[in-house]
Amino acid sequence: MVTWRKLLAETEQRLERLGTPHEANWIISEASGAEGPELPLVLEDEVTEGGMARLDRMLSRREAGEPLQYVLGHWGFRELDLMVDDRVLIPRPETETVTGIALDELDRIGGRERETTVIDLGTGSGAIGLSVALERVRTRVFATDSSADALAVARANAAGLGRAASRVTLSEGSWFSPLPESLKGQVDLVISNPPYVALGAALPPEVSDHEPGRALYAGSDGLDDVRTIIECAPEWLNDSGVLVCELSPEQAPAVQAIAEPLFGEVVVAPDLNDLPRALVAREPVRIP
Ligand SMILES: C[S@@+](CC[C@H](N)C(=O)[O-])C[C@H]1O[C@@H](n2cnc3c(N)ncnc32)[C@H](O)[C@@H]1O
Repeated sequence: MVTWRKLLAETEQRLERLGTPHEANWIISEASGAEGPELPLVLEDEVTEGGMARLDRMLSRREAGEPLQYVLGHWGFRELDLMVDDRVLIPRPETETVTGIALDELDRIGGRERETTVIDLGTGSGAIGLSVALERVRTRVFATDSSADALAVARANAAGLGRAASRVTLSEGSWFSPLPESLKGQVDLVISNPPYVALGAALPPEVSDHEPGRALYAGSDGLDDVRTIIECAPEWLNDSGVLVCELSPEQAPAVQAIAEPLFGEVVVAPDLNDLPRALVAREPVRIP
């Protein structure tokens, strides 16, 4: 009899060659259908044919270099379990922190006491926009992405969100362009994790060979999209509105310099590793 315990040990050995034996727990959980904490409860169970086939498929893909998250087909982000595949960027822990920073900003400007309007630009899997809708029940969220493929994933994730999804509108197009003109000057929070990698920058093959290029690269200095978003945001924000934009730590001074003439107050907030990670630009300047 083949048990999940035996296959867990074999999977650890196979993944040792990739330097990621710890991923065996994730893969065996997925193949056996046991949720993470339930795994110890099924380890002595006999493996079914279907379970064995699922494990083989996942291990072959992982050994071919596909990221674990795509192989599993879903990944946790804050309170969500998001479907992910190679149409979208894998949601990162840094972005969970940036989302938390944005929610704090929303609370500071009264987001728990009144209805607020939030825009998530480049929503990808929907990670940020859907989290905002779920975690702050008085928000109306407009999320955009230029990739129809990414939006299909965001739609699938919205479908699994329940009631909160009724407060989310997903639109296809470049940055602010698909949004209704009536939102101009009305928005409380613009949040984005745009592409910010410089063209030609070295990335691990697991990223560059599998994640969508349009989710990663943004011109020669990586700032093409950040610049567009910072320059366009003031027109959409209301007077106490805030822009929160994820950045790469070494970009912080340049990003701050772009934002300073356009906002009353600009700070860069750190991530959990204390690296500069989120532009927080408050009170847009009205240029006559
Ligand atoms: C870094 S990914 C972020 C995805 C998701 N928000 C997250 O944090 O996991 C950037 C996203 O921006 C989208 N994107 C790229 N260019 C865009 C544009 N001009 N307008 C709107 N979205 C764009 C990509 O398709 C991708 O989904």
